[in-house]
Amino acid sequence: MFRIIIKDTKEELNAEAFKLVKEVLDTKEQPVLGLATGSSPVGLYELMIKDHKENGTSYKNVLTWNLDEYVGIPRTHEQSYWTFMRKNLFDYIDIPEENTHVPVGDAEDEEAECRKYEQSMEGHPVDLQVLGIGSDGHIAFNEPGTSFDSVTHIVDLEESTINDNARFFDNDPTKVPKQAISQGLATIMRAKKIVLFATGENKADAVKGMISGPVTTDCPASILQDHQDVTILLDHAAASKLKNF
Ligand code: GLP
Repeated sequence: MFRIIIKDTKEELNAEAFKLVKEVLDTKEQPVLGLATGSSPVGLYELMIKDHKENGTSYKNVLTWNLDEYVGIPRTHEQSYWTFMRKNLFDYIDIPEENTHVPVGDAEDEEAECRKYEQSMEGHPVDLQVLGIGSDGHIAFNEPGTSFDSVTHIVDLEESTINDNARFFDNDPTKVPKQAISQGLATIMRAKKIVLFATGENKADAVKGMISGPVTTDCPASILQDHQDVTILLDHAAASKLKNF
């Protein structure tokens, strides 16, 4: 079920997402957060850091699992998602490093790493999963055509995704890794609650497909129509192709 929230500013959307995070932190003994990278969740992470600093909210008992990682670059690469999480959140809160999980993108045996990552989540259902959405409707790195039954797997990135993400690699698509390791759609669907951000005009088609299109692997995010608890946070540009809003 979708709860759709449309606001004028990114700040208002971040505040809505933060409320959901805080509820999990306040009510669970060992909260499990599913985290995402990309520009969408950065403002939320800033609010989490601010709250930790000002109100002393602790992350000592929190467990996190990230959605995905590029294949073929080391963790210490400045554009790895591992580095992203340290720079945008983990370095500024009191979460023990061993409680955080990001897939290893340069593992010698990639398939074994996928299995290991999926297994690491067993017994720790995600209380709240943070998501962004790609302009082609991908969630995590599950590109169009990915099976709804998929678990953590190796992905060939679409050209549109490589071009979208070139902005983080000197605007040079040839520098963007061509593959990623990603939680699958079935993995993501196991989360108890999901909060998804989409802002900007280039997300409008994907948002329309996700919310009012058929449930089809052509738009991976449309699988969320079958989830019981999804909050979708939109600005007016991202919502511009929806009818009745
Ligand atoms: C990448 C990530 C996705 C993310 C998407 C959108 O492809 N793998 O998890 O949702 O980008 O990114 P942004 O939030 O920067 O628009």
